Amino acid sequence: MNICADQTHNVFKLDTPRFSLALALADGKWLGQAYCGPRLETADLAWALSLDQRPNTPDTLPRETVSFFDCFPSAYPAANMGDFREPCLAVRTVHGQIDCLPRFKGYEILPGKPALEGLPATFGDPEDCNTIKIILADDVTGVEVELYYTAFTGLDVIAQSVRVRNGGESPVWLERALSACLSFPYEGQKLVTLHGSWAREGAIQTRDIGVGVQGTYSSRGITGHQDQPFMAVVSPGTDQEQGTVCGMHLLYSGSFLAQVQRDQHDSLRTVIGVHPDGFRWKLAPGEAFQTPEAVLVFSDGGLGQMTRTLHDLYRGHLIRSPWLHRPRPVLLNNWEATYFDFDEERLLRIARRAAELGVELFVLDDGWYENRHTDSGGLGDWKVDRKKLPHGLDGLAERVNALGLKFGLWMEPEMVSPDSELYRAHPDWAIRTAGRDPMLCRDQYVLDLSCPEVEKYVWEKVSGTLKSANISYLKWDMNRPVTNLGSAGQPPDRQGEVGHRYVLALYRLQERLTREFPDLLLENCCSGAGRFDPGMLFYSPQIWGSDDTDALERLRIQEGLSMLYPLSSIGAHVSDCPNHEVGRVTPFETRGNTALTGAFGYELDVTAIAPEEQEQIPAQIERYHRFCGLVQSGDYYRLSSLQAGSRLDARMVVSKDRKQALVVLTRSLNAPNQRPKFIRLRGLDPSAVYADGDTGREYPGEVLLHIGLPVELPGWDFGSRLISLTQK
Ligand code: DGJ
Repeated sequence: MNICADQTHNVFKLDTPRFSLALALADGKWLGQAYCGPRLETADLAWALSLDQRPNTPDTLPRETVSFFDCFPSAYPAANMGDFREPCLAVRTVHGQIDCLPRFKGYEILPGKPALEGLPATFGDPEDCNTIKIILADDVTGVEVELYYTAFTGLDVIAQSVRVRNGGESPVWLERALSACLSFPYEGQKLVTLHGSWAREGAIQTRDIGVGVQGTYSSRGITGHQDQPFMAVVSPGTDQEQGTVCGMHLLYSGSFLAQVQRDQHDSLRTVIGVHPDGFRWKLAPGEAFQTPEAVLVFSDGGLGQMTRTLHDLYRGHLIRSPWLHRPRPVLLNNWEATYFDFDEERLLRIARRAAELGVELFVLDDGWYENRHTDSGGLGDWKVDRKKLPHGLDGLAERVNALGLKFGLWMEPEMVSPDSELYRAHPDWAIRTAGRDPMLCRDQYVLDLSCPEVEKYVWEKVSGTLKSANISYLKWDMNRPVTNLGSAGQPPDRQGEVGHRYVLALYRLQERLTREFPDLLLENCCSGAGRFDPGMLFYSPQIWGSDDTDALERLRIQEGLSMLYPLSSIGAHVSDCPNHEVGRVTPFETRGNTALTGAFGYELDVTAIAPEEQEQIPAQIERYHRFCGLVQSGDYYRLSSLQAGSRLDARMVVSKDRKQALVVLTRSLNAPNQRPKFIRLRGLDPSAVYADGDTGREYPGEVLLHIGLPVELPGWDFGSRLISLTQK
């Protein structure tokens, strides 16, 4: 058992292979964090709660209650009770006041990990993980707080979530209920977060932690292109190889907050959870609120080790799709090939040539339904446009299938266009505040999924469409943030629940989709990576990585996303040049190599590209099949980074048994007078010999690890090479 409740020392200690988290009680009632760091065998740690000269506890010195809470490293700090730092819990009572001070009541150790009702969560059997539930309660309001900590046995991961229950006799309103909180002494650590914008996702930012509060958040109703629900506190000098890392990643797809606070005593408090702005959840007596889960990930081998732990966690304990380890069919999506300008004949022309070249799945993107000639109409009605598709979706699917291709479809189920029958009939089904027209974005409104009848309508449209034709793949898109949060279906004192209820309904819809269409390959999308988060990965094995398909931009974006997410979860396509987003021309081979370490596909009119490019497609597809097992299950190493200023993007994947490796090298701009360079590889067996699959050249593993592989790239801008190494 990797969790112990040591009654002698009043300590609860959770161990992962290399880390420990110890929670302890002060005065037998105040739950604090005694320790979080490299693994300790002793449980005699409660004394560490008073390590930094904190004043005596309220019991030993009653006149100094506030001084105690002002610096106590509370495991789940409450607002308005003398802890003046970032709280996790704020409860408003019937008196209109913020009041709650939960004390320790008991605990329970549970083998394995209980599921979170209605929310995505990591899972595991008792041999993978164990859970401790620590119960706190407030005597005045009756509010009970259950803290769930799950420690994994084979991964340096602790999953935390919280359930708040109203055990009192009057309603209360939760105004803040975050998912996790950790404390550390400040020792010059830095803060690592991920940012961006539409088509520029995944930019890694590292900054100093000054006194005060800083972090990252989304108030967009979705996680957003701008900020990932992730934050890591890293020791000074941390890079891919070295340094201590404590990351927090929220399994949630709505507005979130992730903050670190350096306080007056140089202590750090990190918190993560649902964004409290606009959040207000009513708990009638007996009702409970479950927070999303936060993954706490630890590494003493730098960011690279954190990445590999997260990849293993998400592949082994989060993504449930049967497609996770199956070779995904190589798809061709018509979006950048045709945009809205297509009919059945044009689609079939592209599909026919794609099939000849080895493509396996044809995906029809936006524009297949009535009143959709630009992005200004038709959303919500989902009636097939018979002018474009005279034989309907089923007729098109049949014809595509007859070419030997599977058929896939795009939908944007959460939206309604003002110019639609649905909106004319039900304007109150759009998320809106009373008496005000909602704000338009991409000329569309967001449907109010918090209303059961709207959720039902959306389900009927999605499931009805999927049943109407032989559809093997669905791209579930979402193209705007949520504004005007309000619902005609909720009473005034529940309006603060709309944002979270929306996310819960989205999860219910996707859960039902995975149950009722178990073989469907689901790809989530949000104008690219606008909702690329671990919550969505619970339902779909892949998410479209960005609307920017330029190879160079994609290298940067995929570098950022792959810091957290398995390579096979990042939708990546070869598109046409000049690139539609940035006008850049890159070699076809480079575009292929960039997409190959993702969920691989094409997004171009294969009939319109140069014959030399068409000819490369069968070999690219063959390579994808050759390496997809490795990419889906191997250990990923970032060797050289464009984001860090290098002109060389170098990444590699090594099989778990270290017998096979794939290295992809891509140059940004070429430069004159370059001396030959080597790139040191990682993860290989130093005592083995590896052979290059193309040249047959042999290298001892120790040479590749310590001297490196020669960087031999074509002598032009954006030149790329893929090197496959196999143990002799
Ligand atoms: C945004 C997506 O990211 C694109 O790939 C495409 O599906 C468009 N929406 C269609 O409207």
